[in-house]
Amino acid sequence: MAERKASRTAVLVCQGRAVADGRMAVGRFSDPVAVELLTAPERVLVEQVRSGVAPQVFGDRIEYGLLSGVSETLATRTVTIDDALRDRGNTQLVILGAGLDARAWRMKELADATVFEVDQPASQQDKRQRLGERTLLAGSVRFVPVDFATDSLDAALAAAGHDTTRATTWIWEGVVNYLTREQIAATAAVVAARSAPGSRFIITYPAPSVRNTLGRRIVRPLWALARRQNPIADEPMRSTWTPERMRELLDANGFEVVTDIDQLTVAQELDLAVERGPFLRSGRIVVADRI
Ligand SMILES: C[S@@+](CC[C@H](N)C(=O)[O-])C[C@H]1O[C@@H](n2cnc3c(N)ncnc32)[C@H](O)[C@@H]1O
Repeated sequence: MAERKASRTAVLVCQGRAVADGRMAVGRFSDPVAVELLTAPERVLVEQVRSGVAPQVFGDRIEYGLLSGVSETLATRTVTIDDALRDRGNTQLVILGAGLDARAWRMKELADATVFEVDQPASQQDKRQRLGERTLLAGSVRFVPVDFATDSLDAALAAAGHDTTRATTWIWEGVVNYLTREQIAATAAVVAARSAPGSRFIITYPAPSVRNTLGRRIVRPLWALARRQNPIADEPMRSTWTPERMRELLDANGFEVVTDIDQLTVAQELDLAVERGPFLRSGRIVVADRI
């Protein structure tokens, strides 16, 4: 496969967490590390959205609107995932498509855990530069470069010391939408084969939504018109899943669904005032345990 660039959506969702930190779901959501992983230019838009004042310039407004919506998505999914992670308390955590996920640097609950960060090599390289000498809160972190489309996740995890006799929590957050069904099925099979009893698999996934598909199509030319680079343009959506199909995938791999919730419901439970309800409704988070 051709050399890929570092993921821009990884930066976008990191900006989303930086926007949400201290402003949304306070007491339930916190990611003070997110802003520190961003460059100075990337922080400018974060500050703008945190101010709550929408800019007048057309291009600025499009960027503002996207990040504002992303921050709602990130606050809701992070709370749900962190709760499920703490609740299980496994001492191995594998983050699939880790991007700028800061759990190993922000969650003291991971003090006894070995964290395996799996991501495509360019994104991982970019993250390591951004991290610098930051203090780790997890027991240890191992970087595992893998492209799900071309590399063997199984071999890479084995080489990194992942222990198949110990229970693992797996997080696959904001990634499956960029993969084909075949890539997702192949990765889920590796997760299954490496999951001891007590393992937990947490996945965020987009449910089919005509509204969202149309919305993306309508917005695309606006970015060109504004002469701005759409951060999601280079990473096209490759799959959506109904809850039924996701359950079938997990069942087939020996995982039993514990919860499968849409992000609008999470927002309502958190009493979060959101502006993009329909978008949140199609974003889902499933938590499944090894049978
Ligand atoms: C939207 S970001 C999400 C990052 C992180 N999970 C989070 O929520 O902050 C998508 C991530 O998926 C990774 N990714 C996409 N396709 C991939 C592939 N084929 N192999 C490995 N990683 C991939 C990207 O490098 C990026 O880090």
